[in-house]
Amino acid sequence: MESKEWQQTVKDQTFIISTAPTLPHAFIQQAFSTSAMYWAKPVSSEHVQKLVDNSCTLGLYCLENTNDGKHQRTPIGMARMVTDYVTLAYLTDVYVQDEYQGLGLGKWMVRCCRAIAVDMPELRFMILLTGSEQAQNLYRRELGMKVMGSEEKLTAMGARRASLEEAAASPPS
Ligand SMILES: CC(C)(COP(=O)(O)OP(=O)(O)OC[C@H]1O[C@@H](n2cnc3c(N)ncnc32)[C@H](O)[C@@H]1OP(=O)(O)O)[C@@H](O)C(=O)NCCC(=O)NCCS
Repeated sequence: MESKEWQQTVKDQTFIISTAPTLPHAFIQQAFSTSAMYWAKPVSSEHVQKLVDNSCTLGLYCLENTNDGKHQRTPIGMARMVTDYVTLAYLTDVYVQDEYQGLGLGKWMVRCCRAIAVDMPELRFMILLTGSEQAQNLYRRELGMKVMGSEEKLTAMGARRASLEEAAASPPS
């Protein structure tokens, strides 16, 4: 799939979301080992390569000026969709580094995932699993998702393509 990129400025800082395979493997490995991503476990570099090759990985970067007047992209977050790019997208590993949380970047990443999913005309479902009630609200609002079931603390949510489109059309709250 051709890679996609989005850019926005928040509080004088420029951020980029890109699906290009440029997210450093060390960043993914580090993110998987944080307590924020309590569902993930550290993985070997071989397995990081495999999961990147087999999913649509969005990297969230902060654009920083370097001493020589150029720009450098510092990775600060990620989200992944395990997808066949036709019928199904499973959203997972949504993460924004602590110091960048609360700026709307998580919401923006979820909206970018929604845009990628809505671009699949034959999409049947976008699905996810979450252990966070706060995150459920985010997915309800931004993706039009409904709870499909739960087991202990884990909730399964899903949205058909029409619900994703409807969520995209609603005025931002
Ligand atoms: C969830 C997360 C990606 C949100 O990123 P963010 O950039 O701080 O979020 P935003 O500023 O865009 O806020 C969007 C919404 O995220 C939700 N949110 C904020 N912090 C959250 C947290 N720790 N856990 C879950 N949801 C959170 C809120 O509902 C917020 O909604 P609001 O606009 O009504 O306040 C980020 O808090 C994070 O990485 N948490 C740890 C990993 C995690 O729990 N991922 C989600 C697993 S399902």
